[in-house]
Amino acid sequence: MDDLSTIRSEALGAVQQAADLAALEVARVAALGKKGSVTGLMKTLGGLAPEQRKEFGARVNQLKGEIEAALEARKGALSASALSARLVNEKIDVSLPARPEGQGSLHPIGQVMDEVAAIFGEMGFSWADGPDIEDDWHNFTALNIPPDHPARQMQDTFYLPTRADGTPMVLRTHTSPVQARTMLDKNVQKMLADGGSLRIIVPGRTFRIDNDATHTPMFHQVEGLVIDRTTHMGHLKGCLVDFCRAFFEIDDLPLRFRPSYFPFTEPSAEVDIGCSWKDGELRIGAGDSWLEILGSGMVHPNVIANCGLDPAIYQGFAFGMGIDRIAMLKYGIPDLRSFFDSDLRWLRHYGFSALEWPSLTGGLGR
Ligand code: PHE
Repeated sequence: MDDLSTIRSEALGAVQQAADLAALEVARVAALGKKGSVTGLMKTLGGLAPEQRKEFGARVNQLKGEIEAALEARKGALSASALSARLVNEKIDVSLPARPEGQGSLHPIGQVMDEVAAIFGEMGFSWADGPDIEDDWHNFTALNIPPDHPARQMQDTFYLPTRADGTPMVLRTHTSPVQARTMLDKNVQKMLADGGSLRIIVPGRTFRIDNDATHTPMFHQVEGLVIDRTTHMGHLKGCLVDFCRAFFEIDDLPLRFRPSYFPFTEPSAEVDIGCSWKDGELRIGAGDSWLEILGSGMVHPNVIANCGLDPAIYQGFAFGMGIDRIAMLKYGIPDLRSFFDSDLRWLRHYGFSALEWPSLTGGLGR
């Protein structure tokens, strides 16, 4: 029975020495697995005489029970120490500083759109939208720019493939097509017929083939449109003077209205704001120079008629302003192209807090 005691000491020794659960499983298989040492002893029982088989079988069974108990005990010990090792290694140091979370900021374009909307919102304007991809009719023809009009060349247009129904398509060259889209709206026409007054601003993207320090192929404009039965040039002037002074936050900002030409307004005026240059630096406010910031005028009767309204009844004014341009002027940003580079360092420098919503009472700029 030497065999039995050797197997016993080998099996129990392997169990005791198992350093982890994987080694313990190896020890279990070596003793009790299909080809294990104890299983091997069981297989010899069949060849023994009945007397011997009974006595030897009992001893082998006892050994099997002993090894199973040892495996169980070792498994418990190893699991407990594995857990305490994890508890030691995986402890969380609550005194460590928090992982830095980058705080986002608003792009100056979005900020300036919100500032513009805050000012015109106080004057009763609402925000209107239109598509970036426009048909030729809304972008030009409705606005009194017929197909062979030279003004089409003035606006370096991105032409798109013609629609299946033959409609020529463009990337809108200005926000003015939304004037037409809004006046054509049946609900707007009903509101006007009921004696109401239309006041919208249209901040949005516009596109022209152009690329230098002050022009990018995609840029932003805000359109303004007022239509009712009585609005006249004096209202246009008062509205834009108030807007420019509120926007630039300069109460006595000088403004100059210069006669100009747009096919969709008559009369038309370009608006300049006062400024001065000192040591190569631009200062907005009283000075001896002027900067052009927008185009405006009384909506041309042809445009009103093209949009299904009677120009003998309705009149009003419109204006269009470059958002990027007034953002550069107000916040002293030198190169327009940097607006669209997506450079995080630039955005950290020129960006705005998302938590401070611009308002006339709470403050517009930073
Ligand atoms: N749409 C004109 C432009 O892009 C600006 C403008 C709008 C002028 C409305 C007058 C009235 O240059």
